[in-house]
Amino acid sequence: MEATLNSRLVVEVKSVTKTFDNRRVTALNDVSFSVPEGQLAVIIGLSGSGKSTLLRHLNGMHQPDAGNVRVLGTEVVGLSGGALRELRRNVGFVFQSFNIVGRMTCLENVLTGALGRLRGPRYGVLSYPKSLRREALEQLDRVGLGDRAFQRTDTLSGGQQQRVAIARTLMQKPKVVLADEPVASLDPEISGQVMDVLFRSCVEDSITVLCSLHQVDLALGWANRLIGLRDGEVVLDSPVDTGIDESTVMEVYRRLDPTGQKTEEYRPSMAS
Ligand SMILES: Nc1ncnc2c1ncn2[C@@H]1O[C@H](COP(=O)(O)OP(=O)(O)OP(=O)(O)O)[C@@H](O)[C@H]1O
Ligand SMILES: [Mg+2]
Repeated sequence: MEATLNSRLVVEVKSVTKTFDNRRVTALNDVSFSVPEGQLAVIIGLSGSGKSTLLRHLNGMHQPDAGNVRVLGTEVVGLSGGALRELRRNVGFVFQSFNIVGRMTCLENVLTGALGRLRGPRYGVLSYPKSLRREALEQLDRVGLGDRAFQRTDTLSGGQQQRVAIARTLMQKPKVVLADEPVASLDPEISGQVMDVLFRSCVEDSITVLCSLHQVDLALGWANRLIGLRDGEVVLDSPVDTGIDESTVMEVYRRLDPTGQKTEEYRPSMAS
């Protein structure tokens, strides 16, 4: 019984503590939570609350000072070499800064998402099997960029570049997607469109998602759960039901920032 339950937990974080600068900065303090398969969890919190640090523990970019992290049943702490690569094949990461290769075409950027499924390096679109080229075009279509396949990616707008990065992550066929403020550098209207593309695709593909966001309102239509961090601690963990509204969201922010000092600065945009 226990084993069956555990096998459905895609992410298990137990008592994770992480400090920086010779323990002068505590980025995460005894953080525990788990995420079941298929859940779409959004992590909110003010700047410096530990969102990025937490996400980076889930694909082995950070090692905790103490505690355990399991993702897809694999113990992440101490993982290296082939085992780490194997984990990262199944765990896509969408960055705030897109991390695409600007001089490549959109199609080639998306194709690189399939590298984990192939042996050896690839140079140029034609070095990928035709079936993968077709698949990459389909992913570009899905994010609304089918007509930009052969355009250099650095000639696209920010929102379009992030959609290319999303298509590349989907091309990876991940079981989990971690997204660290994927729209923080985009304007509000474009942010909404990009979040929609990301969340809709992940729901369609039954991908488990953990996404950090400042704009809680963008999360509400899709998220099943809100996790709030303050000073490296989980101070909120709440299901999102259809009744959640603007005042609930503002209440969430007040709880994340009891001093009230930063509420204005990080007030989620409620436009639209
Ligand atoms: N590599 C590092 N070296 C030293 N301190 C760090 C490092 N990474 C994070 N920190 C510190 O850990 C704390 C949590 O940082 P983190 O980047 O996880 O916050 P965040 O919630 O992602 O913030 P933001 O919303 O600004 O992205 C902060 O105090 C930060 O200064
Ligand atoms: Mg961050």
